[in-house]
Amino acid sequence: MNIDYSQKIPNNVDLAADKTLQRALEHWQPGFINWWGEMGPDGSQDFDVYLRTAVSVDQAGWANFGFVKMPDYRWGIFLNPAVADRKIGFGAHKGEAAWQEVPGEYRSNLRRIIVTQGDTEPASVEQQRHLGLTCPSMYDLRNLFQVNVEEGRHLWAMVYLLHRYFGRDGREEAQALLERRSGDSDHPRILGAFNEKTPDWLAFFMFTYFTDRDGKFQLSALAESAFDPLARTTRFMLTEEGHHMFVGRNGIRRIIERTCEVMARERTYDVDRLRALGVIDLPTIQRYLNFHFSVTIDLFGADLSSNAATFYTTGLKGRYFEDKIKDDHVLKDASYPVLETVDGRILSRDAPALNALNERLRDDFIQDSIAGVEAWNKGIQKFGIEFAMQVPHKAFNRQIGALAGFKFSPEGKLIDEGEWSANSRHWLPTPEDRAYVQSLMGRVTEPGKFANWISPPAAGINGRPVDFEYVRFN
Ligand SMILES: [Fe+2]
Ligand SMILES: [Fe+2]
Repeated sequence: MNIDYSQKIPNNVDLAADKTLQRALEHWQPGFINWWGEMGPDGSQDFDVYLRTAVSVDQAGWANFGFVKMPDYRWGIFLNPAVADRKIGFGAHKGEAAWQEVPGEYRSNLRRIIVTQGDTEPASVEQQRHLGLTCPSMYDLRNLFQVNVEEGRHLWAMVYLLHRYFGRDGREEAQALLERRSGDSDHPRILGAFNEKTPDWLAFFMFTYFTDRDGKFQLSALAESAFDPLARTTRFMLTEEGHHMFVGRNGIRRIIERTCEVMARERTYDVDRLRALGVIDLPTIQRYLNFHFSVTIDLFGADLSSNAATFYTTGLKGRYFEDKIKDDHVLKDASYPVLETVDGRILSRDAPALNALNERLRDDFIQDSIAGVEAWNKGIQKFGIEFAMQVPHKAFNRQIGALAGFKFSPEGKLIDEGEWSANSRHWLPTPEDRAYVQSLMGRVTEPGKFANWISPPAAGINGRPVDFEYVRFN
């Protein structure tokens, strides 16, 4: 499964054997390069960056490091190897052979799933476009660019499926993916969180910790798909997603560590004092966490969804680790708890499991996010500081689902508008918080130097030292 880099479009799908498809994708390619030039990382065009590029999809080859000039990154099409005789693991077609082509009756739903996933990839690049101008270190700048080029490649992954399996509408959708823009009022990206700004590095690390993790869960559900090319594509994407979440988890850990160092040294919890010393106070970090967590869990969609039931029953989208779950994988008679508000109280009730699949994936996501937050708290404890980060209750600040339209505290208490407006500045980042964090965003690019508000990482990339010259500006 080596990747052929002699081709205009690197790939491991034997693209050269299908001239029509190859031509169509080569026709899309200049549009992608234009989009990257216009919406990719600001001012990076001449940089040589120490990047990881996949040379094959097996263990040995997917993490190959070297200096790459940014616009010359070799975006391409990489699928995990096919599993021989793979069978469908769930839904009405359970036990049948996985599909190598799209069944006509599921075509429009599958296209919609692929387009929605594909749309998030360029969106995040657009959201992060200006961050390079305020990087806290060369090491962090390199990590940002690594995330950006891989999101660009994830777009390629979805565009390949659209071109290869969906004919003319697929080609039109692939074109439209280059035309929507994050936050644009006329042509916004499809999902809400992908139209929010990522204005500073605290937001970036929160985004990669929480929102890239949404990516992990969506991709994991698609990796179960009966449509085998989608399953193989998303399995490879998941290997890259791991690094994006690492960037977020470690970025937040390092910010917290720096703040705690200063708190311990100065023996203070005083926010104004800490801000005067140029570090990000823990309550502000908590408010950013509350914001990014709540916006991200909305991405899983409505708690009860007939679309989710259809996607599952028809075999398009499975559950997280479907094959490890011990049940019938059909879920006709199964139930799953969802939350609702009754007489001012929040209650859990059993709903049909098929309709509650979004809620289940959201719960899996929440479980997974808590682990990193606990690790951050261990870091705080080491300094003897009494503060613990917490993920808010899943009812907090929701815009989608049965809980939207009600106000809840981060602890999950139902409150009225008055209580919300009196307290929300303690719960969500205020304009002052954002302005303060923004005021810290300088640009540090000397190898081995770090902005005052963040600690150096414990180790460099790929065994290189922390003060390695990860980016050559030329
Ligand atoms: Fe991605
Ligand atoms: Fe990602």
